Amino acid sequence: MFKERLLTPGPTIIPQQVLQAMEVPMLHHRSDVFKKHLLEAAEGMRWLLSWDSDPLFLACSGTGAMEASLLNVCKPGDTIISVNGGAFGGRWAKIAERLQLSAHEIVVEWGSPVTEEQVRQAVSQHPTARAFCIQHSETSTTVLHPVEKVLSVVKSIAPQMITIVDGISACATAPIPGAPGVIDIFIAGSQKALMLPPGLSVVALSQLAWKGVDETPRRSLYFDFALERKALASGETSWTPASTLIVGLNAAIEMFRNEGLEAMYERHRRLSQMSHSALRALGCTLLASEAPCPSVTGFFPPSGVDADALRSEVRKSYGIRLAGGQGKFTGKIVRIGHMGFVDPFDVVAGITAIGLAIQKLGGTADTAAALSSIISEI
Ligand SMILES: Cc1ncc(COP(=O)(O)O)c(C=O)c1O
Repeated sequence: MFKERLLTPGPTIIPQQVLQAMEVPMLHHRSDVFKKHLLEAAEGMRWLLSWDSDPLFLACSGTGAMEASLLNVCKPGDTIISVNGGAFGGRWAKIAERLQLSAHEIVVEWGSPVTEEQVRQAVSQHPTARAFCIQHSETSTTVLHPVEKVLSVVKSIAPQMITIVDGISACATAPIPGAPGVIDIFIAGSQKALMLPPGLSVVALSQLAWKGVDETPRRSLYFDFALERKALASGETSWTPASTLIVGLNAAIEMFRNEGLEAMYERHRRLSQMSHSALRALGCTLLASEAPCPSVTGFFPPSGVDADALRSEVRKSYGIRLAGGQGKFTGKIVRIGHMGFVDPFDVVAGITAIGLAIQKLGGTADTAAALSSIISEI
């Protein structure tokens, strides 16, 4: 028997403390008890994001929050600039098309981060664009974009442009790359390092973003941020919230507070470094060698070993679920998630399984050498 382990970049392993916190008789979302949970979660997320106002809680996955953000600050005919360096970066333009916005995409080679120069050029060409959209970590290519640097470029050319950061797979793994005002909208999602089941998104807005909301015609009832702001002021959400997940979020935030933010970011950095050195020792090639993100590592298996066969062998023989490639990397890469409730021994398990599976599939891999490359890091 092997334990089922989720080493995927979402959903992720949920700690016992969070599961237990959610195992309560169903709370009514208009009750005083739930109000307390909601306001505690708002305060906790303000702390986690170093934000100066309460974030909104939406009952939807991350894509819903991306769409809601554009819906609330853009009107038909507006232009947005988006960084497209992977499957999630490409999503902005797809949403824009549905919302009748025109998207100017900064196309980035998959596996590389966007550069300040690319951003400078795009913003100089479209200085009146309404919003600038980027992922903090592009989960599909496992790249961490230099968000803080590029947003300073955006703001130095066009201070009124609303910057939207999809921090869904980076939140709680890396420091928030800027203050409110540099980042105008920050999006987090539950099923990543927040260590919760899917279904809850958190969206934080700066004063500039709220001004943008106030001057934009309302186009959605469900995703009306102004209604949510009003509801939250009295400890509620406009619609039925993902209440159980909000209760769980408070337990997750308590764990973050106990570990400490710096220690948590440092753990993710170490888990990512351990994964890199071990995968290299197994003969794999890292996808994002220039700017890897701390939440997930993408790699090409050694030559002659099929990526999907490797992933399937790891799951069938050792119970560990890894993720495959998306878009143009489908069938070419494997991704190992190390975000959220992950410790060095989870990485040891993942690397051991990958090494053994490479051998089973006819490749050569010195699993013991790969493990010894990381043991000193534990
Ligand atoms: C960077 C990023 N953005 C957005 C999403 C949202 O996807 P979904 O709506 O499937 O949760 C994800 C999920 O994997 C992600 O990693």
